[in-house]
Amino acid sequence: MDPTAVTAAPGGASLEGRDALVCGASEGIGRASAMALAARGANVCLLSRRRDVLEALRDQLPRVHGAQSHRFIAADVSRTDALRDALASLVGARPIQILVNNTAGPAGGAAHSADPEAYVAVFRQHLVAGQVLVQALLPGMRAGRWGRIVNIISTSVKEPIANLGVSNTVRGAVAGWAKTLATELGPDGITVNNVLPGYTRTQRLAQILAGRAAATGKPEQAIAEAMLATVPAGRFAEADEIASAVAFLCSPEAGYINGINLPVDGGRTRSL
Ligand SMILES: NC(=O)c1ccc[n+]([C@@H]2O[C@H](COP(=O)([O-])OP(=O)(O)OC[C@H]3O[C@@H](n4cnc5c(N)ncnc54)[C@H](OP(=O)(O)O)[C@@H]3O)[C@@H](O)[C@H]2O)c1
Repeated sequence: MDPTAVTAAPGGASLEGRDALVCGASEGIGRASAMALAARGANVCLLSRRRDVLEALRDQLPRVHGAQSHRFIAADVSRTDALRDALASLVGARPIQILVNNTAGPAGGAAHSADPEAYVAVFRQHLVAGQVLVQALLPGMRAGRWGRIVNIISTSVKEPIANLGVSNTVRGAVAGWAKTLATELGPDGITVNNVLPGYTRTQRLAQILAGRAAATGKPEQAIAEAMLATVPAGRFAEADEIASAVAFLCSPEAGYINGINLPVDGGRTRSL
């Protein structure tokens, strides 16, 4: 039997014995993903900038079997040299087979009027950081001939979103990078996939609603209703719903899913 094929029982502690690094873990989709992976038995390492939040969250993560332990690392992914050093210590202590590559979304605005340096900064935070993360974890994944890389990006890789010019651009770059990695790393038993969240109730969505209300003078309720009119499901997603897709792509059962963009958007994306 192929050693990369499914070996664990579905559900329950199917990630027992696996280590996961979840980035952007202190809030929103990252936090929910950390919870979901821990609930499936993974040892989770939380990464974001706020040490105090991470320390408290580490102690709240589920422990579903006796050997499970969680850790955290406070780091700014846009400081890629420091990130590389911190990751070397982390994987030196224990290799990591699962990466949830996630950080805050770029600021809004048109593409044509964006400061050129904004593109540089966002590429560093989203693409260069991702490359540093993958290069740090890859030896451990390859050694075990098993790995999962899930990037949290956006439906804009299928349909660019108005007034998110810099974001649309970097998301497309990350999608191209991920697809290339999927091809390169598939022979090592490593899958690379992207989750594309729709409107999800996190502090990022709250900021977007407040920003649009301020820019237009309309009440937030009216802005939210206009957004929801584009969503067949008729509601915003909960972060847990995005996390369920992330956890599935990280599971043994998803071992033959590689190189995809998975919208979790209540049907909002209209393209095939
Ligand atoms: N929510 C939505 O509706 C939606 C829709 C489509 C796409 N997305 C995308 O999905 C991703 C996650 O969204 P979200 O709504 O969960 O965001 P969020 O609630 O704003 O959380 C962002 C997380 O990233 C961390 N972070 C931010 N900057 C960082 C940095 N430089 N280094 C390390 N960690 C950093 C934050 O923690 P610290 O402050 O502790 O660092 C926080 O844990 C984003 O790329 C977003 O654009 C979201």
